[in-house]
Amino acid sequence: MSEHTAPLQGFSDILYPEVGVWHFLEDSARRVLALYGYREIRTPILEKVEVFTRSLGEATDIVHKEMYAFRDQGDRHITLRPEGTAGVMRVVAGLGQDLKSPRLYYIGPMFRSERPQAGRKRQFHQLGLECIGKPNALQDAEVIRLQSRLFDAWGIRDAVFQLNTRGTAEDMPVVRERLRELLEPRRLELCADCQRRMDQNILRVLDCKKAACGAIAATLPPITDFMAPASREYFALVQAALAASGVRFQVNPRLIRGLDYYEHVVWEVTSASLGAQDALSGGGRYRVTVGNRAIEGVGFGIGLERVIIALGLDEPAQAAHNPGVDAFLVGQNEEAFRANLVLAEELRAAGFSVVMEMEPKSMKAQMKAADRWAARRVLIRGETEIANGTLAIRNLSTGMQVEIPASDLLSHLREALA
Ligand code: HAM
Repeated sequence: MSEHTAPLQGFSDILYPEVGVWHFLEDSARRVLALYGYREIRTPILEKVEVFTRSLGEATDIVHKEMYAFRDQGDRHITLRPEGTAGVMRVVAGLGQDLKSPRLYYIGPMFRSERPQAGRKRQFHQLGLECIGKPNALQDAEVIRLQSRLFDAWGIRDAVFQLNTRGTAEDMPVVRERLRELLEPRRLELCADCQRRMDQNILRVLDCKKAACGAIAATLPPITDFMAPASREYFALVQAALAASGVRFQVNPRLIRGLDYYEHVVWEVTSASLGAQDALSGGGRYRVTVGNRAIEGVGFGIGLERVIIALGLDEPAQAAHNPGVDAFLVGQNEEAFRANLVLAEELRAAGFSVVMEMEPKSMKAQMKAADRWAARRVLIRGETEIANGTLAIRNLSTGMQVEIPASDLLSHLREALA
């Protein structure tokens, strides 16, 4: 692609045949979400910067360095949304008691100015879900179960669910203090980022991907040891409910998640078929304060680009996710073309998908086009057929051709394509 035709780095055009896979993911997800009573919410892609700074946390990577934030002509400080939860929280806080459905989902683009690499885009798409309500272990388990049902519906077989708990806001000072005691003597062995995290967001030291930091984190006791018994019990309840509903998971005591709004259970879903960016999804229970309202809920975001990578479909498999056309109309002369244009509309009105060329090319060229469209039937009208009031109908996959009276066409197609 030349510099004139390429999209921005980290951005992509999505078109046929891949777009059929997107429709498949979206359609099957909507069906699964409906089974659980979720309703779609569509929030704006541009938001005030504060929508994210106050809910995700000032020290998080997203807020700190990844937002596409700018000032518009009216000097408003706004940003392309880097994730979906904060916008939904803004809506939920605004509605208060008037919120009609506490079960919400969204599908749409998110923007983060990260360094692009395989599985990491600057514009990517999330399917996200938020279930508003007080902490409830059964609810958390149901949300995770729903997510595993989504992966099943999409045909992702190697999804691994990793779970941990961040306890409650009351646990946090103790957890942080104990981590500080344990990590302070080793501060200089940590990477530069983690030395900064020691002061700003010490929990994140635990999930640093650098080998040296990982080795130190592995020597620490699980943070659940520092939490109140009630927090540990809550986590045990989630695990028991998950086991009862047949979800396979692993407890990963070093899983922290990069957003500050989480409390209690957090999880990540990984797939071995992805490279370094192996997270298909992340989620957890949270508490977000908007104005004077605290919103509690549980939810997740799935990266759809990564789902598509994990599915690993080649071009024919992608094409199979696009509807083929029922009929391609071939005409031998101007008169046949004019008649075909009318016929095409009659067939569409009857619910058949129909394509034809718009100028009389050679029969051979038209047959080739029919082949490219993978038309289920080719309807041919030449001079003889027009004179006789008939149509030749060819089945491209068998090569069989029949001639029928034009008046029988609809019933013939209904039967042939049933
Ligand atoms: P997150 O972990 O930041 O969580 O993102 C969720 C998923 O979005 C990731 O697991 C990944 O699949 C995908 N993703 C993130 N960044 C990129 C990128 N640059 N390129 C491609 N895919 C990406 C959230 O966003 C939370 N709002 C999830 C949540 C909802 N928690 C509770 N409710």
